[in-house]
Amino acid sequence: MNDDNENKYRNKKGRKGWVKKTIRDFDIKGKKVLMRVDFNVPLDERGRITDDTRIKSALPTIKYAVKSPSKVILMSHLGRPKGEVNTRMSLAPCAKRLSKLLGKNVKMLGDCVGPEVENAVGNMRDGNVVLLENLRFHKGETKNDPEFAGALARSGDIFINDAFGTCHRAHASTEGITKFLPSAMGFLVEKEVNYFEKVLHSPEEPVALLLGGAKVSDKIAVIENMLKKIDYLLIGGAMAYIFLKSRLKGTGSSRLEEDKINMASEIFSKARNSNVSVFLPEDHVIARTITAHTRVRVVREHIPDGWIGLDIGPRTIKKYKDAIKDAKTILWNGPLGYFELRPFRKGTTDIAKFISRLNATTVIGGGDTAAAINALGLARKMSHISTGGGASLEYLEGKELPGIAALQEK
Ligand code: 3PG
Repeated sequence: MNDDNENKYRNKKGRKGWVKKTIRDFDIKGKKVLMRVDFNVPLDERGRITDDTRIKSALPTIKYAVKSPSKVILMSHLGRPKGEVNTRMSLAPCAKRLSKLLGKNVKMLGDCVGPEVENAVGNMRDGNVVLLENLRFHKGETKNDPEFAGALARSGDIFINDAFGTCHRAHASTEGITKFLPSAMGFLVEKEVNYFEKVLHSPEEPVALLLGGAKVSDKIAVIENMLKKIDYLLIGGAMAYIFLKSRLKGTGSSRLEEDKINMASEIFSKARNSNVSVFLPEDHVIARTITAHTRVRVVREHIPDGWIGLDIGPRTIKKYKDAIKDAKTILWNGPLGYFELRPFRKGTTDIAKFISRLNATTVIGGGDTAAAINALGLARKMSHISTGGGASLEYLEGKELPGIAALQEK
């Protein structure tokens, strides 16, 4: 295994320690700490938060700033309101939930910039916490408009980025703002970066990468970057079927990205050149329709016409467990079957339980995989569950995340 990729957030001269400042590098006592968090949480149709993991994950930094004591001004986006005010995407439910979690009142403001906000922030006392309204109600946020970034900066003396899930976006509140204020990462971003840097640049070997999910196109760049760093690549989920098709297996009516078939073949030859063992499903849980009460069959090798592959089968589960049982580092991104429906959950469930018992560093990508692990109650048994969906994928692709790159160096 070789690693020719430069470690992006460490000292380039090879000295030990982080390049980027963390909140500990500032004396924040009495200051206005403007903190970017990722409170982009799922809401049900009645606007109630269905998973508050991201809010809880920001608590250590918020509590640290409250205790200092400083004035804590939180900002986030929620959903994609495209520059328009949309009350269904208000952050008010997050202020409520955070108040409960902190055991102190978090004041919700009506906007994120403007005289009212400046006035409210001006009246804050040390130890107070406010939450600004959804940043994406303004077009300037996603456009990374300097004027908007400057307006945001008026609410703070120091900028702290603790929104790992949004660090892959060069937006006004993640990148632009660093041109106006001294900046550093919070504890969540620091923890995420620590885990990703470790698995990318100094993992304990052997290393297994488990990839699932619907689309191979989402994962190609991850595979290409990771082939140099891993020993085993195990593929599940709907994305497995294009690899099987490229090996002339029958895939029935499974969802396929037909135009990616050549890419799938290329990955096999690149894996061979990098000495990576690739594992593909040998048997499949199949159905004619994707519904909870549909008739389900298990087939070996080929999926018959009219049937859809929806989970890895029992032989595959066994084979995958054998392959990873001695791994010392396991990275997992994407469910191995159609996890939302009970008949197609077993592959993801069995492998998750197995991994949770291994003596290995286990890093789970955010999004659907994190949701599946949380639903199974296994979160505490994994070394790290990322709060970033797109951000964790881009990290594994070897890309520099603009929200982190822009932070001040030590
Ligand atoms: C996420 O949920 O992945 C982050 O909050 C970023 O959201 P976005 O994809 O809408 O930028």
